[in-house]
Amino acid sequence: MAAIHDDTDAPEIVVHADAESLAEDAAARVAAAMRAAVAARGRCVLALSGGSTPRLLHARLVAMGADALPWAQTFLAFGDERCVPPDDPASNYGMARDTLLAHVPVPETHVLRMEGERSPADAAERYEATLRALATRLEVDDDDALFDLALLGVGADGHTASLFPGGAALDERTRWVLDVQAPPEYAPRDRLTLTFGALARAREVLVLATGAAKRDAVARALRGDDAMPVARVRGRERTTWLLDRAAAGDS
Ligand code: 6PG
Repeated sequence: MAAIHDDTDAPEIVVHADAESLAEDAAARVAAAMRAAVAARGRCVLALSGGSTPRLLHARLVAMGADALPWAQTFLAFGDERCVPPDDPASNYGMARDTLLAHVPVPETHVLRMEGERSPADAAERYEATLRALATRLEVDDDDALFDLALLGVGADGHTASLFPGGAALDERTRWVLDVQAPPEYAPRDRLTLTFGALARAREVLVLATGAAKRDAVARALRGDDAMPVARVRGRERTTWLLDRAAAGDS
């Protein structure tokens, strides 16, 4: 039985009528985080989430217009990736490219892609080096946040990024990026994921969850059940969960 930790820094929870209004709110929050980061530090580092939930968010960000946000000063990292080539339909990078990157003026050199086409262990090591090189370039030291905002989803089993319940990656204390095996129901199984240690380098965390399939995992996570990996992620300054009524168990 996993500990139910007493959570003094409980996340803010916002329940929306539907996925569309959730995406509108999420886009406003991403925009605010980008603007605040660039105003304060001259740049913004976002960690994008995979899966399908971010599609509506990406569409809202694109609809704001190419000049609405400081894309030229923004770096885009990824929370996880499936170990497939970028043109594979399962690629998180491919989804972000098609729904966001192709439509906003973020410099190509600012998009930090996880190389899903490489061997998983090699790709994990290379991405770790990429993130650490970014931290050096941006003069982020050990007690600073590297990501201004980390976007995360939730699986029906409570996973987030590719940190799955009971996975060895949950106990990693040093590495920022690991190669992992997802459970059989989450093919493709070979994955790359940020670790809790890397996610702890986020100033703000925004968790998006829609649909009744997420309801039980969301309820357990928000009760502090850390058997749900998503329950263990906190932004240094702010953690917000955006739910639709179905994921919140309100309908
Ligand atoms: C992935 C994601 C994963 C995702 C959840 C929710 O690679 O699949 O990063 O953590 O956020 O599985 O996925 P949906 O948004 O498709 O429900």
